[in-house]
Amino acid sequence: MSDALRFVDITEDQLDAVIRVRARSFGPLASDDRERWTKDALAFINDGRYVGVADGDEVVAAARFWDFQQWWGGRRVPVAGVAGVVVAPEYRGRGVGSKLMRGVLQRAADKGFPLTALYPATTVIYRHLGYEFGGHRYKFSFRAADLRCLGGKGVAVRRAGPDDAQRFLDLVAQIHEVRRSNGPLMWPIKEVTEWLRDEDNFAYLADDGFVVYSWSGSDLTIDELVAGSEATARALWATVGSGSSIARTVHAYVSADDPIHLMVEHEADGDAWVQRWMLRLLDAPAAIAARGFAPGAVLELDLRVEDADVQSNSGDWHLSVADGVGRLTPAQVSGDVLELGPRGLAALYAGTPLVTLRAGGLAKGGSPLDDAAVDTAFGGSASYMLDSF
Ligand SMILES: CC(C)(COP(=O)(O)OP(=O)(O)OC[C@H]1O[C@@H](n2cnc3c(N)ncnc32)[C@H](O)[C@@H]1OP(=O)(O)O)[C@@H](O)C(=O)NCCC(=O)NCCS
Repeated sequence: MSDALRFVDITEDQLDAVIRVRARSFGPLASDDRERWTKDALAFINDGRYVGVADGDEVVAAARFWDFQQWWGGRRVPVAGVAGVVVAPEYRGRGVGSKLMRGVLQRAADKGFPLTALYPATTVIYRHLGYEFGGHRYKFSFRAADLRCLGGKGVAVRRAGPDDAQRFLDLVAQIHEVRRSNGPLMWPIKEVTEWLRDEDNFAYLADDGFVVYSWSGSDLTIDELVAGSEATARALWATVGSGSSIARTVHAYVSADDPIHLMVEHEADGDAWVQRWMLRLLDAPAAIAARGFAPGAVLELDLRVEDADVQSNSGDWHLSVADGVGRLTPAQVSGDVLELGPRGLAALYAGTPLVTLRAGGLAKGGSPLDDAAVDTAFGGSASYMLDSF
């Protein structure tokens, strides 16, 4: 790698160069999308969340990260959602992407994010940097005619718009607290408002729930459906299903354990689509302190972490969990303790059972007899996201 390569903050006058690299990585940006893309890019630049690698003055790689919150054990944890990772073709395969991503990790940690997540186009580079699979994104398909008959007719449902953004966020927060959700994201209110302003998205609100859906060709697709009661779930699904005279199939981004799977008679052709996302801890004590743990779980555990790219995670620790809250404190440990690298730590945080981590080579040492208590503390509903970024 040339010595001239340096990690930089992307500036407004470098956006044309970023678009050039991006076109060679993801395909051309439609001219209609360019204005929106540039507006978004400026927001990332202004907040120090658009970074790159330059060779002399020329930008040859770039990445940005979203300022999200992610639900873990029913509590919100700030997460840097990394996106748009691109390296110019003539610079690939010689460590530029890794240099870029190390800079991203540092910048996100400096900005106080205890976690980072991303959707990998290739897992190799991200695994080298300590990311591991954290959960899924599912799209299930249902017969519109089945949804139409779900009932809930007594529930008042009204059309919603951009002014309802805060209400939507409040409802999302209520449901994830109650379900002690793992994985889903909270977008900034500005983005939620834009989502609801888009006239191609059809948004409906009930007292304790909402749905947002749109056309996908001649089918319908639900971006998100939140319901605080069975009656509201039935009403909102039936609202979308009311389109069954035109749309045969309704696709929906929902978790694998969403109650709809227990209500609907058929899932169209068993057709489910799945994408996986990766997670990494940037500040292990802060990440542990911020998330919720299974109520009733009690844990006292020594562990050793070796994390080459985030040295502050490395060392000997004591993990205590009680009353749904966890604390990771530096400790003097001796003897045979649980040993994790950053990938094992991320996968454990995301609820992967220790027996799987041991079998996959991501955890060793300690007493496997303690594993069940660890699994109980970190466990709960399977982690998922509804949206990519
Ligand atoms: C993916 C990408 C960012 C990697 O950048 P890069 O500069 O080539 O990465 P590095 O040279 O630092 O490689 C780091 C590791 O990832 C591996 N790697 C890189 N690209 C890979 C690919 N397409 N498939 C499998 N492994 C890959 C490298 O072999 C290396 O692993 P190794 O040390 O074990 O050999 C770059 O190829 C790119 O811009 N691709 C097109 C856009 C894209 O897919 N972006 C990622 C979106 S999530």
